Amino acid sequence: MSDSSAFSLYNIETVITILLVLSVSLFLSRKYLTERRLRRPPGPWGLPILGHLPFFGPSPPRTFARWRQTYGNVFRIRLGSWETVVLNGYDVIKEAADTGDDFSGRPCFVSQELLQIVNGGPPSFTFEQFGEAYLNRRKSITSALHLFTAKERKATEEIFIEEVNKLVKSLLQNGKDARKIKDDIQFAVGSNIYQFLFGNDKSIDREDQLKRIVNHSNKITEFLRNGNPFDVMPWLRYIMQNRIKAFITITSEFRHMIKQQIQDHVKTFSPAITRDLTDALIAADSDVNDGIDQRTKLVATLPDLQGAGFDTTNKTLQWLILYMAAYPEVQTRVHAEIDGSVGTSRQITSADRQTLVYTEATINEVLRSVSLSPFLVPKLTTCDTSIGGYDIERGTVVIFNQHSSCHEREFWGDPEEFRPERFITPDGKLDQTKISHVMTFGLGRRKCVGDVFAKMQTFLWFSTLMQRCQYVKPPDVAYDLDPVPGLSYSPKDFIVTVQER
Ligand code: HEM
Repeated sequence: MSDSSAFSLYNIETVITILLVLSVSLFLSRKYLTERRLRRPPGPWGLPILGHLPFFGPSPPRTFARWRQTYGNVFRIRLGSWETVVLNGYDVIKEAADTGDDFSGRPCFVSQELLQIVNGGPPSFTFEQFGEAYLNRRKSITSALHLFTAKERKATEEIFIEEVNKLVKSLLQNGKDARKIKDDIQFAVGSNIYQFLFGNDKSIDREDQLKRIVNHSNKITEFLRNGNPFDVMPWLRYIMQNRIKAFITITSEFRHMIKQQIQDHVKTFSPAITRDLTDALIAADSDVNDGIDQRTKLVATLPDLQGAGFDTTNKTLQWLILYMAAYPEVQTRVHAEIDGSVGTSRQITSADRQTLVYTEATINEVLRSVSLSPFLVPKLTTCDTSIGGYDIERGTVVIFNQHSSCHEREFWGDPEEFRPERFITPDGKLDQTKISHVMTFGLGRRKCVGDVFAKMQTFLWFSTLMQRCQYVKPPDVAYDLDPVPGLSYSPKDFIVTVQER
């Protein structure tokens, strides 16, 4: 090697080293400047890899309440691999919901990728990324549901009433002994949502399909009891192969049943008659020209409507009955209001909602006290944004802490007390401002699409169940009203005596 080539080699090495040092310093200084420029929310110390998951404890809502006291209404944690910001209290959650669509995304969890494989198409509607496809689907679902809650309201009400009367019969036919009533409620709610989604085709073994729906829901609840580890630590998918397979098996079994229903509906669909919600969706979807196959859209939508409608309504009713047995003095007031306003024999209808104010207040107070979905469904920021004076980067998971809004002392005064009358204004009306602070159905663009349907059903079912029955706690039993965490929070198993009134 000549001297000149050795010199040029030396020069090249020097230049490369200088360039490397310069780029690393530039990168670090830019990162440092960005970090300094961004006003990030404060938060507790977490662990590498796991983040804050090990510190959630048996009651995440209580842990979050402690962190809120230390770090304020907006704090930052890490759910495994996901940077997460928790919004606490009505004001800051409302501010986020009103900030255009900055908080309308959903995290792209591994389970959703798996569901896409199982569905053979788009992800499930609830976890669909925010964008035009999502908005189109939401429009179709809203318009299909609207048909049942507005145009065909009377027919919808008749189905609700028929189904709740069957539930009353099943609750009463099992004698006077105290027992678990969870199965009766699950079966009745399953039957109700099944009828709306898939109609009343007598050629189908409905009992068998219902058992499968209830069974599927219980399996999923059990499977997700402690969350889905590979959703928060995606690298676990390469290690937890058995869990991945179990997830695919559970969801495929159920989708097989739904796919069969879709096939039958698409084959026999006629625009002249709407037999059920599936038909209404087919009709609504035909107005949307997005190039996605009809069946594919349905298979990504119907399981969500079925799951969301079943799980939440089922748990709401279990909680309502448990609270009535636990608070007999409230139960007596609900009975007295119904007896005075409707009597014991006339069927209650939606029109009675105007007068059964204490009954409605009781539903709201139970929903406030239990916070069925204490963190709603996680959101994802769709752009760099800010909230409560802090900057939040695009792609951050955001939790709307509904539980915190339901338990704010400054607003409620005595949040730990069970007091339905707090929802009644001095002139005897329902206090809509207080109801909006409960946020049972979420808020903003990702708000529950089934809220009108759910409110109608919950009122008709609860008031009819109260009109016809009394719920008594056995004297030797103590109820534990702390919830069992899960997708939505359920009551611990309880027994109750159901007496005819
Ligand atoms: C008592 C009954 C119900 C409760 C408490 C409830 C509650 C909720 C909550 C808290 C959310 C998440 C909102 C958010 O992310 O901010 C949600 C979303 C949703 N709910 Fe409901 N729900 C109920 C009944 C229903 C029914 C009957 C249906 C349909 C028939 C339904 C369909 C959905 C769907 C599809 C979503 C996802 C919305 C989206 O991501 O855009 N829900 N629900």
